Amino acid sequence: MSYKLFIPGPIQVSDKTYQAMTTPVVGHRSPDFVALYESVQPGLRKLVGTKDPVFLSTSSAWGVMEGSIRNLTKKKVLNCMCGAFSDKWNNVSKRCGLEAGALSVEWGTHIDPEALRKELSTGEYDVVTLVHNETSTGVMNPLPEIMAVLRDFPEVFSIVDTVSSFTAVPMHKDELGIDVLLTGSQKALAMPPGLALLSVSERAIERSKTVDTRGYYFDFEEFLKNHEKGMTPSTPVIPLIYALRSKIEDIENEGLENRYQRHADLNAMVHQWVEKNGFELLPKPEYASKSLSCVRNTRDLDLAAINKRLKEEFKMVIDIGYGKLKGKTFRISNMGDETEETMRELLDNLDTILSSLS
Ligand SMILES: Cc1ncc(COP(=O)(O)O)c(C=O)c1O
Repeated sequence: MSYKLFIPGPIQVSDKTYQAMTTPVVGHRSPDFVALYESVQPGLRKLVGTKDPVFLSTSSAWGVMEGSIRNLTKKKVLNCMCGAFSDKWNNVSKRCGLEAGALSVEWGTHIDPEALRKELSTGEYDVVTLVHNETSTGVMNPLPEIMAVLRDFPEVFSIVDTVSSFTAVPMHKDELGIDVLLTGSQKALAMPPGLALLSVSERAIERSKTVDTRGYYFDFEEFLKNHEKGMTPSTPVIPLIYALRSKIEDIENEGLENRYQRHADLNAMVHQWVEKNGFELLPKPEYASKSLSCVRNTRDLDLAAINKRLKEEFKMVIDIGYGKLKGKTFRISNMGDETEETMRELLDNLDTILSSLS
């Protein structure tokens, strides 16, 4: 059964992207692969806001989230926790055998830069993890303010997850001094899952060389050595790299600023619908994500029943809450290739269902 995904990832993949994936694979040590790898670098660097390489990892985002803490942590990692994904990073840190501390806030709220400063002032930490856009709660953390604090602690390495914000809002990795910026393919990039991207600062690569327990698959030095030859450390998911090349082409054709504006406009459209229907966003408006909306179920509706009707009658699905927010919130994505028309269609369909309930 085919239906349209308005969940915050994976999201709808265009026919053009799927078509790109059918290009025949080439040997991953061949000049054809080198040409493919090198063709995506300039576009990716622009999207990340960096002069550093952007490595391609055949894994989902968790692979490079785990890999990054293992490459960099010697003393103790501080996990900024404000929702399901950022909380889990603390658990993953401990499972990797690392010393891990928590800067934890209530779900729906953001990481406070001054609270981070206080934690870092203890001198205990050498790595910080931050989820820029906490997909489970729809909170977009204040990245420039948080990075301004981190720049006061140059001995601390920063790892920033932009899984659900990458290409929805501008990224300025070098300007902000982010050491590792990582993302996955199935969110705003609107590709199928299975490819993760990570851009690593020179100093973070130097640091990783001194960490004995960094492993092999996600070793920054392996990525860099292979990058210099236009390759990846192991056999990569070549069809997704074709999809990435096609996607970068789409993004460049649209224009970066137009893309960011489109995401902001569609997000504002959802917010207006939320207000009109007597709901409210989980986050405070100033910390609300621009790529998805996490809405409190203030009318105590049977969200599962609504989503079932949306799927059966209109061939669309939204999300009805992640983890402990299941049933208490619902989430609508405006990531990827959506337009005013496609978002209007979704919201009109939801209106039809809601009005039939009253
Ligand atoms: C913010 C964020 N980080 C990490 C992940 C984990 O990504 P994956 O399941 O692709 O490894 C997700 C997935 O939804 C996410 O939204």
